[in-house]
Amino acid sequence: MDTVSTAGELRRVVRDWRRQDHRVAFVPTMGNLHAGHLQLVRHARASADRVVVSIFVNPTQFGPDEDYAAYPRTPDEDTRALTDAGVDLLFTPAVEEIYPPDLAAAPYVEVPEIGSILCGEFRPGHFSGVATVVAKLFSLVQPDVAVFGEKDYQQLIVIRRMTRALCLPVAIEGLGTVREASGLAMSSRNRYLSDVERTTAATLYRVLCDVRAAVEGGASDHAALEAVAVAQLKRAGFRPEYVSIRRAADLAEPLPGDTRLRVLAAARLGQARLIDNLAISIS
Ligand code: PAJ
Repeated sequence: MDTVSTAGELRRVVRDWRRQDHRVAFVPTMGNLHAGHLQLVRHARASADRVVVSIFVNPTQFGPDEDYAAYPRTPDEDTRALTDAGVDLLFTPAVEEIYPPDLAAAPYVEVPEIGSILCGEFRPGHFSGVATVVAKLFSLVQPDVAVFGEKDYQQLIVIRRMTRALCLPVAIEGLGTVREASGLAMSSRNRYLSDVERTTAATLYRVLCDVRAAVEGGASDHAALEAVAVAQLKRAGFRPEYVSIRRAADLAEPLPGDTRLRVLAAARLGQARLIDNLAISIS
């Protein structure tokens, strides 16, 4: 595996591949890789001739009081894991490469409505930061396909919209969430949990499973189910931000007759902010 850090080096490699008609798959990450990331990389490996992974802790998607400085950075372990996974090229740009410092008032990507609900309400500007960096990375890597995790379901929907709206020729694929044996969704931020909190954290998954079972069993008072779930999380020691049942395709409030839903939640536990979501199908 080669590692490059500048746009120029990246473009040279990708241009060569394109000349040979290679199909390129791309997995953007912020590093500190775990089995969830590596599942995306394996899928990319199986679906293209060449695989590019980026590791870039993107400052514009962190709020002023968030964990940008503390975000776990483990470049040596990550490089080993990506080499073992058969990745062709690792792109590790510096912040100045992605955000040229002489462009103070630079264009950015805003994603109206979908970017300001759910997590967007609690993290103002977050999805604009995500959409902006992913658009820049797509422009640099020029992949045929890019792979994302359903763990960050709202992010996946935001990226699908951004890609369509900006007419970017990239197919977006979403893969299911990889979990610990306890059900806890794998996340780089699980590092912030103490041992006791890690055991409690699995409650988030169980609460979402209960909501799914209730809706699939015919319960239709979504507001009541959401309120019960929030109360269960509080009792377990979480500081819940939201539990919400939405339409899977666009995260709008469900209408009678919708059959593909999603229950999504965000809750703080100790130093960590955890998110999770599950698919719900009504037959
Ligand atoms: P990061 O949190 O590093 O995640 C990179 C990719 O891995 C995302 O598509 C995310 O949904 C996926 N992922 C994380 N945990 C997962 C799990 N347990 N199971 C399956 N997939 C999982 O998401 C980001 O980085 C950034 O916002 C990024 C898209 C790179 C833009 O900066």
